[in-house]
Parts: sequence; structure tokens; C-alpha cells
Amino acid sequence: MTEEMGKEAMFDFLYKLPEQFEACLQMDFSWAQRLGGEYRNILVTGLGGSAIGGDVLRSYCLTRAAIPVVVNRDYRVPAFAGPDTLVFAVSYSGNTEETLSAYGELKDKGARIIAVTTGGRLGEMARQHGYPVVEIPAGLVPRAATAYLFAPTALILKEMGLLSGVRTELEETVQVLRELRDQLKPGVAAPQNQARMIAGKLVNAIPVIWGSSCTSEIAAQRWKGQVNENAKSPAYFNQFPELNHNEIVGFEAPEELVGRLAVVILRDEADHERVQKRIDITKSIIDGRVKSVTEVHSTGSSFLPRLYSLIYIGDYASVYLALEYGINPTPVKIIDYLKAQMAQ
Ligand code: PA5
Repeated sequence: MTEEMGKEAMFDFLYKLPEQFEACLQMDFSWAQRLGGEYRNILVTGLGGSAIGGDVLRSYCLTRAAIPVVVNRDYRVPAFAGPDTLVFAVSYSGNTEETLSAYGELKDKGARIIAVTTGGRLGEMARQHGYPVVEIPAGLVPRAATAYLFAPTALILKEMGLLSGVRTELEETVQVLRELRDQLKPGVAAPQNQARMIAGKLVNAIPVIWGSSCTSEIAAQRWKGQVNENAKSPAYFNQFPELNHNEIVGFEAPEELVGRLAVVILRDEADHERVQKRIDITKSIIDGRVKSVTEVHSTGSSFLPRLYSLIYIGDYASVYLALEYGINPTPVKIIDYLKAQMAQ
């Protein structure tokens, strides 16, 4: 299906991201109040575009929830998972084999599962086994359905009394993304369009995206994935302060090598003050050696809008990068090929 989608399809998906969040805010999750009980942990199991919402949830819950969120991207599941684990089994297609395998193990362990999917085997099995299924709209590609794959999980935790303030943050996310899209959409030319400017710096380079622990780390991870899948380019991500303890030493490599790297640093007002100092020192170390260093700042007053503002700029930049390379951002032939081969 994605083969038939034109180059503009991904722009269309991106433009409608605020409406996706709005649609999630209108969904009724009051049934989740009945799922109350004692949980020791939350596990999100999924892969690729369906797992990144779990990473957002993990990061969001880190400073807000009393129990930990763990993201599982595998056939197998962690030993701690059991009857006191709340599971979100997330698969856009509902047919990802690793997710189906993890689902089976979690069911056997007595975990309390909620499926988030457009349907597929996951939807079928979850219904058959009596688990709640959050059915999200089909017709997108997983990485373009990012609000549908995250927001329901946070709203469900809110209904269960495990999180608060979620609606307010999601409402602000809608606002912030609406303002941003008017600056990032294809009708806006460079230099006014920040995403186009960034794509210009990433072209013919290897993007290296750096975020910071607890603030922008997931945005950095998402940028990497979006550059990979939309622009069909290698890209790497890491986070401060960890990268100051290993990756930075690699920048001593000869300039023929590091000169191919285009570094993007994602900055957020909540970055730890010592991390801010680290970022400034790190920039002074790599400036002039790498192809470019670009800083991107978040906007918004709370965690989710600020995180999604960074994600949104990266999403648009990755699509402009695809256009720089003259390719269609939407199809991911290699992923489809791998899935087909594995199914044989
Ligand atoms: O972006 C993609 O297409 C992939 O990363 C998929 O999300 C991944 O392969 C998992 O598939 P699904 O999201 O359908 O479970």
C-alpha cells in the first residue's frame, strides 16, 4: 500500500498530527477506571514506530508515576512481568511477529494486557481473550500514527489514577504543534522554514542526533528513526550526559571521518544546568571538525508539548531530507522485505 502513496502523503500525515492528538482526547477511556488495582510495573511491548510511543510514556512517567515503565522490543519478555504487570501491547498493523510472541508470553504469565492496534492478529487474539482493545484508525503508516500509538496509553493511565495532568499537556501539545506546522509546512520556504534549513545541513552527511536524559532523549531517538525510514539514510543518536563519557572521544578521529557528521543537538529548558554546561563545552570541542552543528530548541510550557515540538521539527526535517535525495519518504521496502522473508 505504501508503494502507491505519493511523496506528499507523509506531509499530509504530518500536517494532521495535531488532529490525531485531538481525536485521542475525544476517545472514551473511562472503562479503564475498572482496571484499577495494584500494579508493580508497566510494560509496553512493540517494535519500531509502535514502540516509540512506549519510550515517550517511559520518559513521561519517569518523574510523574509511582511505578516504572519498561519498553520491550523483543519476542521474549522480562522475567519480572507477571499478574501485577500492566501491559500495553502496541502494534499498528497488529501482525508484528515479535509483538505477537511477547503477547503470548505475557498472557501465559497472567499479565493484564491492553492492546493498541488497528486490528490484525493482535486485535483478534486480544478480543478473543477478553482484553481491552484500543482500536486506532488504519490507513496511515506506523510512524505517522505516532499520537494514536502514544496518547491512549497516557490517557488510560490517567483514568486508572496512575498519572495526572495528561489532558492539559495533550491539549497544549495540540496548540504547540498547530503553531509549528504553520512554520514547517511545505508552503514555507527556507530560511523561514527551520526544518528545510536543517535538511539542507543533513544532506550528504551522516546525521548524529543528541538529546538529553529525561528531557529530549526520546526526541533524539525519534529523529534517528525518522531519518532512517523517511530519508533512507543512516543516522545515529545518543544523549547527554552519557555521550560525554564515551562517544565524544570518537570525535578525535581524522577529519575525513568526523567531517562527514552533521550533529544536531536538541535543547530543552528543563535540561539539567550541568548538562547545559556540558552541551556548551561539547560544542566547542566538535565545532569546526564536524560538517555542521545545529541546535534545535523545544517550545511549550510542559513536558509533552516540548518533547513533541522537537519530534515534529525532526519529522518534517526528515521528509525534506527525503526530498533532497529525490526519494519517496513513505515506503519502507527493506522493512517490508524482511517481514515477508521472515513469514516464509
Ligand atoms: O515504521 C515502521 O513501519 C516500522 O518501524 C513498524 O512500526 C514496525 O515494523 C512494527 O510494525 P507495527 O507497527 O505494525 O507493529
